[in-house]
Amino acid sequence: MKEAIEQILKEIEDLKAASQKEVEEARIRFLGKKGEITALMEQFRGVAPELKREYGQKLNDLKKAAQAKIDQLKEAAEQAAEAITPKEDLSMPGDAFPLGSRHPVSIVRQQIVDIFRKFGYDVAEGPEIEDDYHVFEALNFPPNHPAREMQDTFFVSTGHVNPLLLRTHTSSVQVRTMESQDLPIRVVCPGRVFRNEAISARAHCIFHQVEGLYIDKDVTFADLKQAILLFAREMFGPETQIRMRPSYFPFTEPSAEVDVSCNICKGKGCNICKGTGWLEIMGCGMVDPNVLKASGIDPEKYSGFAFGMGVERIAMLKWQVNDLRHYFENDMRFLQEFATATEV
Ligand code: DAH
Repeated sequence: MKEAIEQILKEIEDLKAASQKEVEEARIRFLGKKGEITALMEQFRGVAPELKREYGQKLNDLKKAAQAKIDQLKEAAEQAAEAITPKEDLSMPGDAFPLGSRHPVSIVRQQIVDIFRKFGYDVAEGPEIEDDYHVFEALNFPPNHPAREMQDTFFVSTGHVNPLLLRTHTSSVQVRTMESQDLPIRVVCPGRVFRNEAISARAHCIFHQVEGLYIDKDVTFADLKQAILLFAREMFGPETQIRMRPSYFPFTEPSAEVDVSCNICKGKGCNICKGTGWLEIMGCGMVDPNVLKASGIDPEKYSGFAFGMGVERIAMLKWQVNDLRHYFENDMRFLQEFATATEV
């Protein structure tokens, strides 16, 4: 009997079964009613009393080993069977994934940046929490300029010489670029800006701008005008005209506001352009010598132009959206209208 137990134990250890059917056959062979182990259990009754303890132990171990092995093979066979015959019908058509789309403000910001990149401009970025120096001081804002008041600017810290604030324009990145980059400089700076404004159809406390800066030897106002014209035609169509109106910014001299011909009425006058045929799109000018000097650039040797535009404003004009707040409320019905609007 001892040999028989050892023999079966060995067979069980070597047992290999691939299919569920083979596992079941092995179970019947060893553990079934007429199985080999069951038969040994019956023989055990006739074993001499002094051997009962030893053989009983061995038989029990054998039975446990057999059961464990069969369980293990059974599980492996089930897993293999599942892998071969998946429950899903692989020939079924897949479920359509509801794809999101980019936010219209991101689309327009990217279009603006892409246009200037084609003209050879790099992209520069700067911090949204800025200091007074980079937002105002270095940009030639006089000490009592109204933009420096609490009602226009969100201050993060006050009470010292160079307080921290949320940048009110991306022109601060001009300063950081002039401080850190070698000349010539040709960059656009897209980013979020913050102003302490009541929210309305035409104003928001958070919006986006793209600033541009070009500094080299002999840069003139004619270069500025040409860059803006090319941009306007890429953005609003090849027929677009521009006009420049004299304006004032502390950081540029001379300064101008740029209008484009209304892309709805083609300049004839409609309610979008309020009958004028023109739409204002940006401010610009020749970088003030004081601004160049503040960042260590010699205004006798170098000159440059800068411009800045609101991304939401360009988007509103491009798509005739009449309320700025739509861009911040994220109503899906509004956003989905731009799902395919990626062309320039
Ligand atoms: N920083 C101005 C603003 O926020 C926009 C601007 C105007 C930027 C003229 C410029 C510029 O670089 O030359 O309203």
